[in-house]
Amino acid sequence: MNDYQTITAADSVSRDGTIKLHDQSGFDGMRAVGQLSASILDALAPLVQPGVTTQEIDDFVFERMKAGGGIPATLGYRGYTKSCCTSINHVVCHGIPDERKLREGDIVNIDVTTILDGWHGDTSRMYWAGDPPIKAKRLCDVTHEAMMLGIGEVKPGARLGDISAAIQKYAEKHRYGVVRDFCGHGLGRLFHDAPEVVHAGRAGTGPELKPGMFFTIEPMINIGRPSVKVLEDGWTAVTRDKKLSAQFEHSVGVTEDGVEIFTKSPAGLDKPPY
Ligand code: MF3
Ligand code: CO
Ligand code: CO
Repeated sequence: MNDYQTITAADSVSRDGTIKLHDQSGFDGMRAVGQLSASILDALAPLVQPGVTTQEIDDFVFERMKAGGGIPATLGYRGYTKSCCTSINHVVCHGIPDERKLREGDIVNIDVTTILDGWHGDTSRMYWAGDPPIKAKRLCDVTHEAMMLGIGEVKPGARLGDISAAIQKYAEKHRYGVVRDFCGHGLGRLFHDAPEVVHAGRAGTGPELKPGMFFTIEPMINIGRPSVKVLEDGWTAVTRDKKLSAQFEHSVGVTEDGVEIFTKSPAGLDKPPY
């Protein structure tokens, strides 16, 4: 059984394993922060070119969040010291911005989470530095489509496993590996909350989706095997076989009749090329 907890604006929330069901004020808060996060990803598009360092990307994200009245949720989160994650090529997720310059043909995921008025807007997209090989572009395309198919399953009465199954089916049809070690998550006034949103699983299983549930869908899809390892820095997750990995992420809410994507690109920059 899963426990649900109805949340109103005045309540304090804790990470107690319950799935929170939010009211209209929650939707308003998530829409605002989601659009701020998405607009930052939009603004990054012209900057992400060969020669730019991931630290320069991080600085840009920090400034834009501040300018929008928000703060980076990742800054100081479990010892993480950056405003975004930059995961290049075979890095699956949680790549740490540094002085490394993007090279021609790199693919990079940029993952931002803004906090605005206490709400968390968590979203990521793939970017192309120059003109990557066709196999890299195809991976990005399939990963985006897998996420959108997962989002397409979201409505009251559906199960979390319906999302997982849709993503896995599509990715594996293309002979890609779906990462099991990281998953989507409930969010709202908390960054990472129940439920876990796994990206491979069986339809008809898992918690029932109810109006007011907020969570991320963020599949990591590999050209090769699903297995990953975390590097010495304690964060950077890479594919064990060194093959390319891609990820997209949206924060969504279950509405009375379907889904609202809080982090949809205001500029229509859904997937590369931008
Ligand atoms: N934004 C990531 C997610 O999708 C979490 C990053 S945590 C960090 O859940 F500390 F690595 F930044
Ligand atoms: Co997330
Ligand atoms: Co994220």
